[in-house]
Amino acid sequence: MSDHQPRTSHAALLKWVGKMTEMCRPDAVRWCDGSATEAEELFAGMVKSGMAIKLNPAKRPNCYLFRSDPRDVARVEKRTFICSVSKDDAGPTNNWEEPRAMRHKLTDMFTGCMAGRTMYVIPFSMGPVGSPLAHIGVQVTDSPYVVVNMRIMARVGQAVLDVLGEDGFFVPCVHSVGQPLAPGQKDSPWPCNPDNTYIVHFPEERSIVSYGSGYGGNALLGKKCLALRIASCMARDHGWLAEHMLILGVENPEGEKTYVAAAFPSACGKTNFAMIIPPKEMKGWKVTTVGDDIGWIKPGADGRLYGINPENGFFGVAPSTSAETNPNALASCAKDTIFTNVALTDDGDVWWEGLTPQPPAHLIDWTGQDWTPGCGRVSSHPNSRFTAPIANCPCLDSAVNDLDGVPIKAFVFGGRRMSDVPLVYQAFTWSHGVYLGATMGSEQTAAAEGSIGTLRRDPMAMLPFCGYHMADYFRHWLKVGKHLEEAPRIFHVNWFRKDASGKYMWPGYGQNMRVLRWIVERANGRAFAKESPLGWLPRYQDIDWRGLDYSREKWNELMSFDRTRTAHQTLAHEELFISLFDHLPKEMIFERELLLSRL
Ligand code: OXD
Ligand code: MN
Repeated sequence: MSDHQPRTSHAALLKWVGKMTEMCRPDAVRWCDGSATEAEELFAGMVKSGMAIKLNPAKRPNCYLFRSDPRDVARVEKRTFICSVSKDDAGPTNNWEEPRAMRHKLTDMFTGCMAGRTMYVIPFSMGPVGSPLAHIGVQVTDSPYVVVNMRIMARVGQAVLDVLGEDGFFVPCVHSVGQPLAPGQKDSPWPCNPDNTYIVHFPEERSIVSYGSGYGGNALLGKKCLALRIASCMARDHGWLAEHMLILGVENPEGEKTYVAAAFPSACGKTNFAMIIPPKEMKGWKVTTVGDDIGWIKPGADGRLYGINPENGFFGVAPSTSAETNPNALASCAKDTIFTNVALTDDGDVWWEGLTPQPPAHLIDWTGQDWTPGCGRVSSHPNSRFTAPIANCPCLDSAVNDLDGVPIKAFVFGGRRMSDVPLVYQAFTWSHGVYLGATMGSEQTAAAEGSIGTLRRDPMAMLPFCGYHMADYFRHWLKVGKHLEEAPRIFHVNWFRKDASGKYMWPGYGQNMRVLRWIVERANGRAFAKESPLGWLPRYQDIDWRGLDYSREKWNELMSFDRTRTAHQTLAHEELFISLFDHLPKEMIFERELLLSRL
């Protein structure tokens, strides 16, 4: 039985929580133990207050639906800050404010901000508890929604405090929805403060402060804030990599397992690729999932890289997830899952665009209004999410909780490119591979992100997540590679090429397994490839075509590139490089020149 009191003698932690309590002035403080009983109690409270809806247990056991304030539906990059001492350290791709000035502003905002609420203290481990690759954070928050989500996404509770001991290192994370309650004031169903949102990182101090939003990466501070922005700085300082990467295992028919880490910008199907189901004709090939969003990858004593997934759950985009596109993700949210901003069916289940070909005849949409097909609105917000325990995943890798991580043999970078970028190619060297990652980009699909079709450079898919100067990050990648005995091979993929009539040339989804097989065989030094100006390319006969009718002519078109256009695109890398030039490692310029010469 928990009495909500701390079970730790960590003096610095107790002192910090005391300071937060004094500043935020909550009505009560509750130390979270991460137990099922605690979650049940919090869910019951949120159902009672109208914040949560319990779904039909016959359809979705132990699942809940939340609807956020329509102004608080996604990460807010404009309000995300890296407050390093020097502006130069944050670099041109991050928002920066002077840390002392920011602290003063935040202290004013946080003073009394939890009035009328409970402050929850969540000790959490990113990575398996006790792993030498894991790191510990402690989040204080006034949102019970955050507590129940963090319990799924991270490892929470007493075991974490035990590992922390009396003086272990933790990342302090402070979060408030920014809506204090006056005595007797009725709470809103989704408290937030969208006009005054701040997501702030102090990289030298390794601390995080978030105000005004209760949604996703703004509020679940273990994920993007700790595991990417702060961890990228820790990784830079200590010789490892904190990456926006999925990790998967590929098992061949002989039972040999090869692990691959892959970076794709948001909205390029990372979760689908992490849970890919090989075509049935590729008998004996199997894919298992270690993680779908973040990888922490460190050199081992043997000079190889080992990776863990710091997370313990999936915070996946719901729309388009279906039995066709990703049955494993669907199975992962069959029970014990939190849904946010999807639609509610008349029988107490959830629905979203793409879940079934035919929408139900009636729904309550994500804004709480009646919805019928053809009403002209979507039923679920495009960024609606499921928070599902990783343990639910049918294709979970057996080594997911291994304290030492899994050996990474290949890195894959990818983007959404309509033309001229072949389906797959392999970098000649580590520094060529770093160049491919540094220059990767994606054509925009949603007008909100920029005009449709424009290319957004997103180096290694880390643009919104790198906690320091992007060019120093490239330099760090180069340095890590230099010290490896056995560096992973690096590949670039593009599933999204279109033909002259605008049709996708590659079927994608499960068929990507054919590409993945070639990648894995190359990483193990087995498959053949031919040299090209871009890198090593598979020939038609190097791909496993069992069960797919795909002509040699189509393949040649899919793998082709126009030398002149590619040279021009290469020159366009200059735009990114100019903004980074005073920190840019010389290798990036050399690689560009080599590529141009080869073209
Ligand atoms: C995410 C993202 O939510 O990358 O994972 O935006
Ligand atoms: Mn992501």
